[in-house]
Amino acid sequence: MSESELRVEKIKDGTVIDHITQGNALNVLRILGITGKEGNVVSIVMNVPSKKLGKKDIVKIEGRELSPREVNMIALIAPKATINIVRNYQVVEKSKVKLPKVIKGIIRCINPNCISNNPREPIEPVFTVISEHPTKLRCQYCGMVMLHEDIEKQF
Ligand code: CTP
Ligand code: ZN
Repeated sequence: MSESELRVEKIKDGTVIDHITQGNALNVLRILGITGKEGNVVSIVMNVPSKKLGKKDIVKIEGRELSPREVNMIALIAPKATINIVRNYQVVEKSKVKLPKVIKGIIRCINPNCISNNPREPIEPVFTVISEHPTKLRCQYCGMVMLHEDIEKQF
């Protein structure tokens, strides 16, 4: 068992999001819409040593199994994250996050003149993913291409 695993107890049932890009655990919770008010036990570990990533964050959500579909959006900021479903202390499913083809909401277009940035137009930003590694998104409204750096700055 690695040192990082010893910092937070194993959970009995729920979801462990592992290998989150360091420092992004709170952004992951924000994208998932988890505020803490739901009442589940949520454990957050940040900047722990990792063999694969140097440093990583981990989020453990007890009593709730998040589906890959719900979690995939976190690939925007944590492209190497793994989703582990835990039942009775055992990891029963493990998957890697995969960016959906279309991103709705969450981030804004970097073009200030884009219609999705007009406060009088209640338009949800929509982007198509044109590259996954590195992340490149194209705004559906103005065609502006957003790079990884443009996305990171928004969190
Ligand atoms: N975990 C947990 N509670 C459990 C089982 C696992 O919190 N009952 C956590 C582990 O601490 C780890 C993650 O879930 O952060 C994945 O567990 P496991 O697959 O056992 O670890 P590894 O083999 O190291 O995972 P990987 O190969 O994905 O790095
Ligand atoms: Zn735009």
